Amino acid sequence: MPLLNELYQEIIIDHSTSPRNEGNLDLATHSTEVHNVTCGDELAVSLFVSDDLIRDIKFRAQGCSISKASGSMMTEKVKGISVSEAIEFSKKLQKMLNNSETHLLDEETIGDLVALLGVKRFPMRVKCATLPWHALERALQSPIPCLKV
Ligand code: FES
Repeated sequence: MPLLNELYQEIIIDHSTSPRNEGNLDLATHSTEVHNVTCGDELAVSLFVSDDLIRDIKFRAQGCSISKASGSMMTEKVKGISVSEAIEFSKKLQKMLNNSETHLLDEETIGDLVALLGVKRFPMRVKCATLPWHALERALQSPIPCLKV
């Protein structure tokens, strides 16, 4: 188990120090900003969705390494899948992180995000890990109105 924990730590460190898809999308169709009420940290997500597919996604996190790593892995996970698949995955992952259900996602489906499950031992950090997923779901419910000129 120690080797596995080291591997999970390495995944989190890698994503928090070199976050993938960091920034803002200029041509976003959906976006939102959320904050963690316990620490005040903020996280913004912007997406480009067309034909019900998440074509592109970026995030910006002003927060801890867990929220940054979770946001980075989230962008890799949902880019290219449908909105409903992304929401379903998000809900299952959050249930697993909140400990209410443990085997909602199999090993292949959860992928590197399995590294986040270690935070279940630290209830205060669960919100850090779920923050990007909360933002994702909220953004997908917040389409940006089209400007017609
Ligand atoms: Fe603020 Fe983790 S401590 S998001």
